[in-house]
Amino acid sequence: STSSSPPPFAAALDVLASLLPAHLLKPKFGIVCGSGLSTLASSLRDVVEVPYSSLKGFGHSTVAGHKSALAFGLIGEGKGVPVVAMLGRFHPYEGHPMSTVVYPIRVLARLGVKNLIITNASGSLNPKFQAGTIVVIQDHLAIPNLAGPLNALLGPQTSPDLPRFLPLSDAYSVHLRQLAFRAVHALNLPADTLEEGVYAWVSGPTYETPAEGRFLRAAGADVVGMSTVPEVVAAREEGMEVMVLSLVTNAVVIPEYRSIKEEIRQEVLTGKPAELKPVATVSHEEVLSVAATKTEVMKALVAKIVETGSR
Ligand code: 6GU
Repeated sequence: STSSSPPPFAAALDVLASLLPAHLLKPKFGIVCGSGLSTLASSLRDVVEVPYSSLKGFGHSTVAGHKSALAFGLIGEGKGVPVVAMLGRFHPYEGHPMSTVVYPIRVLARLGVKNLIITNASGSLNPKFQAGTIVVIQDHLAIPNLAGPLNALLGPQTSPDLPRFLPLSDAYSVHLRQLAFRAVHALNLPADTLEEGVYAWVSGPTYETPAEGRFLRAAGADVVGMSTVPEVVAAREEGMEVMVLSLVTNAVVIPEYRSIKEEIRQEVLTGKPAELKPVATVSHEEVLSVAATKTEVMKALVAKIVETGSR
């Protein structure tokens, strides 16, 4: 699943050109809406929604909380800024080849999108980041690079004009990150609304084991999730400026170290039965319900970043 025939960009672009009014056809910003965040699109005006099913080369998102459409529209007062939002994304864990995961990003690039805001839901590894915190990603760890080959650019070189070995030391736009933190002040939001940190990418669909959570934390990650990094890599290859807003929906469960051997030794010594104490777990429902509580703040931030970033 690492290589495939050339994607049918022209077909998808023709459909979009035929459906969109001129003022929406050249979006200034792309916005990828993560789990439970598709309502970000409700702040758009003049919306034209194009289902992925009508666009050749797009997959179908199978994850609850993900729609499957591109939403074109305007953000902000006055004339407004044209943007395109991806309502729903594709993940390798759904069985999509990497070329499908990043295909919409490449379509956005061909529409002339120069700035990309990617959102996602993540688990927190940093005890300072409670559920509900929004984290501006400053760097990432792509753990599959350690565990096995899974990279958006595996396979034949995308184009002879693009580097075979893409640098990622500047993957997360300093300019867009500055706009994000300025937006917090401009909107008079509490300072702890927005933090910054490192995103660890894991393939999923399993959540982390406690040992993996400890490993990722020790490796320098603040949050962990199952998306985003392929899109960041493809967007950088396409020459876009990228920013990621990661909404913490839960703390990664890292139970305190517990020795069953010791507990049973005590049980035998004292005759008092050892406790079972079930371990807390995370669920997709929890992820979606926390995401829902934060969509208004996410919307306000995204709108402010788009407005100030298009001046
Ligand atoms: Cl705890 N882990 C991962 N891998 N993805 C998540 C998450 C946790 N919470 C939301 N998305």
